[in-house]
Amino acid sequence: MKYQIKITKTSQSNIENIDFDHLPFGKFYSDHMFVADYIDGHWTNLEIKPIALIPTHPGNMAWHYGQSIFEGMKASRDEEGHPLLFRPDMHAKRINASARRMCMPEIPEDLFLEAIHSLVRMEKAWIPPQSGSALYIRPFMYATDETIGVKPSDTYRFIIFVMPVGPYYSKPVKLLAQDTYVRAVVGGVGEAKAAGNYAASLLPAAMAKNEGYDQVMWLDGVHKKFIQEVGTMNIFFVIGDEVLTPNLDGAILAGITRDSIITLLKDRGIKITERLITIGEVMEAGEKGTLKEVFGAGTAAVVAPVCEIKHGHQIVKIDPDSFKISKMIYETINGLRNSTVEDTHGWIVPA
Ligand code: COI
Repeated sequence: MKYQIKITKTSQSNIENIDFDHLPFGKFYSDHMFVADYIDGHWTNLEIKPIALIPTHPGNMAWHYGQSIFEGMKASRDEEGHPLLFRPDMHAKRINASARRMCMPEIPEDLFLEAIHSLVRMEKAWIPPQSGSALYIRPFMYATDETIGVKPSDTYRFIIFVMPVGPYYSKPVKLLAQDTYVRAVVGGVGEAKAAGNYAASLLPAAMAKNEGYDQVMWLDGVHKKFIQEVGTMNIFFVIGDEVLTPNLDGAILAGITRDSIITLLKDRGIKITERLITIGEVMEAGEKGTLKEVFGAGTAAVVAPVCEIKHGHQIVKIDPDSFKISKMIYETINGLRNSTVEDTHGWIVPA
């Protein structure tokens, strides 16, 4: 342990009030959180303490100018109940990539990892044993200067809390391809896990909901024809015997689940191509019957089968019961997470 983390335990755990067999996503919090402050150029005041409100001045720069970034990770347990993390080093790297883009300080990777390990070990009773459930880990960082004026904050807070969660989607998702609003353009902040990216997605998502669709399929901001990602996930298509996913063009979030799926497909000799994919070719494949599977991929959702895509007046429906590749990938990732599938890439790290 390189860092000194002050630990204050709760006197009253809330765990008895949680029904681990019926876990919605994102509603229940564990007992403790990790907190650190960035002051005078370094991280200090490292502490794990009972989860509580974080009183904030109305002039806090994060409210006004949006310096706020986050990660989403998961912890699981093996069959003996030992806590496991999935690719935590990748999340440490990604939060720092987001920090650089948003002009925020980086978090030393060893500090990020030590904080995650310490908190997850302390909260290991909160890791649901049920298959498909997990302990969702939410590290985030925001500006804390109390100053009005557009400039980078000098001070920041880094917090991690954890939540026992069930599946993000309980059924296959329906996607509406959006060609009025865009999520991100190359050179913008689409690659960063910035809070504002999610705020910008809410209006188009609400419009999609009104039409009976679960998520937006984002198209590129220039031509409005190249598929980028969907709602809160990266996207994969199986056309014929090839799996396709949009290449990381600088506007798409570099998903860690996306990266894992590409590796797992290559391991299994399945052809996977990262390239520009047009909405037109996907809809055409849907009409011709060569579109075999469509699935979203993300930490929260893991692998989410898609049953319908609408673009303009064209609708394509596919039957997730016939999906083979996405089912195999979902089972492999879940198996890795509970150590029933051999981890040949060193992705699973004891907490
Ligand atoms: C994740 O997949 O972890 C995300 O951050 C998406 C969020 C909407 C839950």
